[in-house]
Amino acid sequence: MTRIMDGNKVSQDIRGEIKEKTAQLKGKGIIPGLAVVLVGDDPASQIYVKRKENACHEVGFYSREYKIPAETHEKDLLNLIGVLNADQKIHGILVQLPLPSHINSSLIIEAIDPQKDVDGFHPVNVGRLLTGQPCQMACTPKGIMVLLERYGISLAGKEAVIVGRSNIVGKPLFLMLLAQNATVTVCHTKTKDLAEVTCRADILIAAAGKAEIVRGDMVREGAVVIDVGINRLDNGKLAGDVSFAEVSPHCAFITPVPGGVGPMTIAMLLHNTLKAAEAGLEA
Ligand code: GUN
Repeated sequence: MTRIMDGNKVSQDIRGEIKEKTAQLKGKGIIPGLAVVLVGDDPASQIYVKRKENACHEVGFYSREYKIPAETHEKDLLNLIGVLNADQKIHGILVQLPLPSHINSSLIIEAIDPQKDVDGFHPVNVGRLLTGQPCQMACTPKGIMVLLERYGISLAGKEAVIVGRSNIVGKPLFLMLLAQNATVTVCHTKTKDLAEVTCRADILIAAAGKAEIVRGDMVREGAVVIDVGINRLDNGKLAGDVSFAEVSPHCAFITPVPGGVGPMTIAMLLHNTLKAAEAGLEA
C-alpha cells in the first residue's frame, strides 16, 4: 500500500521542537533573528516570504523583512547585506531568489557572512558540504533528507535518482544522498532516456520544475517518490513534477503537492537560523 509522506505533519513536529529550543535560548538572553530580503514584487516570492515570516513568529524568532523595489541598484543591496552582517540581532540572512536580472545573484550570495547564510548557498557552505564538513545546508534538500529519515527510509546502498541539477536542490541533494552512501544519478535536460534511468530508482526525486514530467511508467514498483515541483497550471491549479494519479499506485511512499516538501523547506530554514543563533552562543 502506498504511504503518503506528510510534510505538514513532520514540519509541525519540527517546529514544535524548535519552539522549545528557542524558549531555552531566550533564557540565555538570545532570540534567534532572521532577516528576509525581497527585491521586487514577484507574487510567488511574496507568498513564500510571508510563509517564512509567519513561521518565524510561530516559533518565537525575531524577524525583519526588507521589501525593496525591483529597480534597486546592486550596490545598495550589497550595502544592506553589509549592515545585516554586522547586526547582532540578526543570525540569519535570506535573500529571496530569483533576483531581478540586473543584479548578480552570485555577488549577493557571496556577500553574506557564511555563518548567517541560512540558505546554505554561499560557496563556503557549498564547499564544506562537498567535503563533508559542518555547514549550513540548503533548506529544500535538507528537508527531503529529514523527511526520508523520519519515515525510516534507509539510504545506504540504495539507487537514488534526481531529476534536475539546480544549485538550490539537485546539486546539494546529490551531495547529501552521497554522504548517506546512496548510489546517486543526476538527470537533466540532456539525459538521453530519462525513463530508463528513473526506472532504476529505489528513491526518485523530481526537481525539474516541469509539471508532471514523471509519469506512471517511469517509476519502479515499490519506489519512494519525492516531488519537489510546485507548478502553476493554466487552469490556476498547482501541480508537482510528478503525475500523482499515475505514479502513486506504483510506489511505497510518495510526497503530495502541496503538503510534502514545501513545508519541510520552511522548517529547515528555522532550523538553520536556530543553529546560527546557537553558534553565536559558543563563540
Ligand atoms: N527561491 C526558491 N527557493 C528558494 C530558497 O530556498 N531560498 C531562497 N533564498 N530563494 C528561493
